[in-house]
Amino acid sequence: MRAMKNIVILISGRGSNMEAIVRTARAEQWPANIVAVISNRANAAGLNYAQQQGIATAVVENTAYPTRESFDTALQATIDQFAPDIVILAGFMRILTAPFVAHYAGRLLNIHPSLLPSFTGLSTHRRALEAGVKIHGSTVHFVTADLDHGPIIAQAAVPVLEEDDEATLAARVLAQEHIIYPRAVRWLVEDNLSIDQGRVTVKTVKKTQKLQAEIT
Ligand code: GAR
Repeated sequence: MRAMKNIVILISGRGSNMEAIVRTARAEQWPANIVAVISNRANAAGLNYAQQQGIATAVVENTAYPTRESFDTALQATIDQFAPDIVILAGFMRILTAPFVAHYAGRLLNIHPSLLPSFTGLSTHRRALEAGVKIHGSTVHFVTADLDHGPIIAQAAVPVLEEDDEATLAARVLAQEHIIYPRAVRWLVEDNLSIDQGRVTVKTVKKTQKLQAEIT
């Protein structure tokens, strides 16, 4: 019997990625409990869904703190009340300080709406359209102190269509996020990821590829 992992999810708004993770964890019966959903905004819509699902919620409003450091200290204290093994950023729109990131090293994931390392930062869909790229997407990565540059776990690519605007492109990317984020979190829950020199390997995928190579 594997030990259950505690997961805390941080959101700032809609929370559709959080919802996808909660649904998938239950449907696939992960050896994990989603113990809390925490928002930096009291009016984050995703808090309602979490409450309806019987998940504990908390709000740590960044506007109540004078500095990034004091906010992160308060946020960390709130998160740690739930004794998480894994912390998931799901549309959490805050830059985190280095000590906070270090505290959760190797167990803090983020999803970013671009094919990193392209388009770090904000307004990724608008910038992708402006740049005229033909392929766009999303990236799940470990969080490091270097913003949007942590080791990449999974990516999904979507075509950029002639008639796209920011909203249609965002929706196409979001649908893929709801697939890759739960998959990546499950890999972490199952201790299925290893990092070597900034590159992530999914251990079971590697094993399968090796077996296939032996057969062919
Ligand atoms: C997602 O598209 C996610 O990639 C993005 O915010 C959206 C949140 O949607 N995250 C970032 O931009 C992080 N810098 P959701 O609240 O419905 O999950």
